[in-house]
Amino acid sequence: MSEQQYRLPLRPRRLRLSPNLRRMVRETELSPADFIYPLFVRPGQGIRNPIGSMPGQHQLSVDQLAQEAEEIAGLGIPGVILFGIPEEKDPCGTENYNPQGIVPRAIRAIKAAAPELVVVSDMCFCEYTDHGHCGIINQPGDEHYVPTLPEGYLLNDPTLELLQRASVVHAEAGADIIAPSGMIDGMVGAIRAGLDEAGFTHVAVMSYAAKYASSFYGPFREAAESPPSFGDRSQYQMDPANRREALKEVALDVAEGADILMVKPALPYLDVLSDVRQRFHRPTAAYQVSGEYAMIHAAAAQGWLDLRGCALESLTAIKRAGADMILTYFAKDAARWLAES
Ligand code: PBG
Repeated sequence: MSEQQYRLPLRPRRLRLSPNLRRMVRETELSPADFIYPLFVRPGQGIRNPIGSMPGQHQLSVDQLAQEAEEIAGLGIPGVILFGIPEEKDPCGTENYNPQGIVPRAIRAIKAAAPELVVVSDMCFCEYTDHGHCGIINQPGDEHYVPTLPEGYLLNDPTLELLQRASVVHAEAGADIIAPSGMIDGMVGAIRAGLDEAGFTHVAVMSYAAKYASSFYGPFREAAESPPSFGDRSQYQMDPANRREALKEVALDVAEGADILMVKPALPYLDVLSDVRQRFHRPTAAYQVSGEYAMIHAAAAQGWLDLRGCALESLTAIKRAGADMILTYFAKDAARWLAES
């Protein structure tokens, strides 16, 4: 049979013939400008603790941040998101609204070193509470105890007040964006009102709008030293089985004034990301979480997957599905890989 046997109406392979042809028809192009790089900050001096389950990632002390920020900015990455590991934890996570707390100090250090870098402050209490939940827990003896509610229930509205308070503290320190990640009802509206009232109308809110109760957060909880001491987070984070519910969550955050909408995790939730991108006219972010990063690294370490290929392919897929920005631990590596190619 000859190669010219069939009169096909179209042969799509024509446009895949050479690297430049493929470049001409490429629909999605990654750039360092797509990335936001997560940083874990801890107390101490001269600390660069490797995180075992996240190869290449570290917990850093504040004095390490100037150099880190300059490196990130130098790679063309526009922003970072900060997670703090406090000196002390207590039932209300008071360190989160201490103006001398770990994240406010980190924000000031980054802004001094690289003022143009956008600083996003993750706004949640799980790193700061001794029970590791994302807000105030209903416990007998506590000042917030409500006897009609179950023990162990995350108290919504008292948590909103603390989120408001901590957001203002982080804004005062210089955060450009506050990113509430606790899936507390009304968190975006409360934070927006708190920021506006305190004079921070220019500070944006990036909402973890559709955040699932995912097993892929495992390595992060080691990195941020924030596993819940009892139960899990399913009473506030979303059920991975639900797609339509994400649209309800996102719609509420849009109504409450979220400037940027986030879906998290990323790769296992591309359907949700695509829905959000199509239905809401706000910039959309996706969080490629710690477990997504760890999986690729673990397989690459075994020689089973190609690290660079799989990382860039995943990031491209996340962007193709609708992400305007990607929070990713691959940010620095990917920026370097993109510069090489
Ligand atoms: C805090 C928070 C978590 C992550 C981001 N913010 C952990 C959690 O919800 O348990 C996870 C990020 C990751 O896995 O990379 N609430």
